[in-house]
Order: sequence, then structure tokens, then C-alpha cells
Amino acid sequence: MTQTKGRKGIILAGGSGTRLYPITVSVSKQLLPVYDKPMIYYPLSVLMLAGIREIAVITTPQDRAQFERALGDGSQWGVSLTFIEQPSPDGLAQAYLLAEDFLDGAPSAMVLGDNIFFGHGLPEMLADAGKQTKGGTVFGYRVADPERYGVVAFDAEGRASQIIEKPEVPPSNYAVTGLYFLDAEAPARARKVTPSPRGELEITTLLESYLNDGLLNVQRMGRGYAWLDTGTHGSLLDAGNFVRTLEQRQGMQTGSPDEIAFGQKWITREELEARSKMFGKNDYGTYLAGLLK
Ligand code: TTP
Repeated sequence: MTQTKGRKGIILAGGSGTRLYPITVSVSKQLLPVYDKPMIYYPLSVLMLAGIREIAVITTPQDRAQFERALGDGSQWGVSLTFIEQPSPDGLAQAYLLAEDFLDGAPSAMVLGDNIFFGHGLPEMLADAGKQTKGGTVFGYRVADPERYGVVAFDAEGRASQIIEKPEVPPSNYAVTGLYFLDAEAPARARKVTPSPRGELEITTLLESYLNDGLLNVQRMGRGYAWLDTGTHGSLLDAGNFVRTLEQRQGMQTGSPDEIAFGQKWITREELEARSKMFGKNDYGTYLAGLLK
């Protein structure tokens, strides 16, 4: 009998970041700060909240070394990080081809390296998506400017009937967020995706293959959640301000892999203490030290 393997994670952190030029001429977008942490900490935190401990980070060949310096092998957070290079930014669905060996027949959760999620109940929502063994789950989020995203069309019963990439006339205000829970078939399905007119292997085409087989669950993420992307100068600053506002008001961190690892009991008190010392007396280090009290 074949056993279902544990779900593995993918963070897609390649891309060219042209909308953030000239900043991203020499630095990967996903290493830029979102207030007090590198951007990639936030999507990494989402996967860790989902209970995922085996994670591949997909980067460009030129940025790989910097990601390795920023994240290490993950052992400081009780996770295992594998780095995979994407030679050129040929689309989001390509991640499943690049990560096929890493996944080795396991289902996956993939998150885009420039997406930030926040909201009460997020761990439960992730846990529910993670339980599904057949098919996929993606999240629909209401946005004011759906034409910039993959947009969900709903039928009369409110079920997702289509996902359309950057439609001129959006069929709804629900954008598909950059978080995809897919079953073990994703690499095989991704192999059947052909490049779009803009030359990319589109994630929407892969999702459509699940949708057409009646295997895609589009979960609405309600207004109690924040979903931010950080791909433009304005949205990057907005995300930083959002995180700063939350952290200053609550006196709590959002998107801290150290805190999540400790909460999940993946690292010991001593390990957290060592991390807090590494950051000295800055706010992040002081916060981690406070968790030990
Ligand atoms: P995008 O924001 O669509 O593209 P980009 O990051 O290259 O930026 P720009 O449009 O400004 O040139 O990408 C969304 C996320 O997916 C982002 O985190 C980068 C990542 N990505 C890859 O890792 N590989 C790819 O082939 C593509 C297209 C994106």
C-alpha cells in the first residue's frame, strides 16, 4: 500500500523584480526589508504555521548565495531548507518542475516570496487546507484592483468556475492569493502546462487543470485577513507600515520564524536564547528574550 507522504513547502523567491528597479538591480526583492525583517521571513512563517518543516527555497542563480546567508540550513528554526535555482523567470508553475525531485511524491504548499498574510485563525485555515489529500486548495481574497491578478469567476451556486489571469474585465473582485496547496500530482500536471503568450508557465493554467477535474477548492479568505503583496514601491512601503503599526500597537511580532519555531516546540529554550543573543539589544532580540520569560 502506498502511504501519503507529509506535505512539503516551496517558497518561490526568484523573479526579476523589475517593478522595484532600481532597488532590485542588485538585490533580490525577497531579501528587502518589510519593516524589521527580510521579506522572505513572512512567507516562511506561513509555511511554518502550517506545520511544514521541509521547505525548498527557489531563487535565481545569482541570488542563491545571499539567500543561503540569510536563512542558513533552517536548523536554527527546526526546519530543513533546500535551495533550488530557477535559471530564468519562466513562470510560477515551473516551480513544480524544479522542485519535483525535492517533493519526491509528496503533496505541497507553495507560497510566493513576496506575499504577506496576516489574520486571526490563519493557522486553523492552513491546517484545514493541509488535511486535503486529493486535489488542491487556493484562497480567494477580495481586492479593489482584481485586474492585476488571477481572478476567480463564480457560478450561480457560488462555486469557482474559472480562474482568469489578469482579465481586462474581471468576473469578480476575488484574486487568487500566492498560496497554493496542491496534491502530489502537481509536478505531473505542471509538465502539461505550455507557455502563455507572455512566455510563462502560468500558475492559473495549472490551477485550471485541477478546476476542470473538479479538484480545486477555492476558499474565500474573509475581510478579517490581510493579504499584501510587495511588488511595487508603494505596496512595499505599505506592507512595512502595516507590520510596524501592528507590532508597535500589540507589542508582538508578526512573521517571526523564531517565535513560531519556539511555539511549535521545534527549538528549545536554549536555542531561542542563543538566537535572541545573536540580535543583541535590538527590538527583535529583546522580543525573543521576552518570550523566554
Ligand atoms: P512577480 O511579482 O509576478 O514577478 P517579479 O518578482 O519578477 O517582479 P516584476 O513583475 O516586478 O518583474 O512574481 C511573483 C513572485 O514569484 C515573486 O516573489 C517572484 C516569484 N517568481 C519566481 O520566483 N519565478 C518566476 O518565474 C516568476 C514569474 C516569479
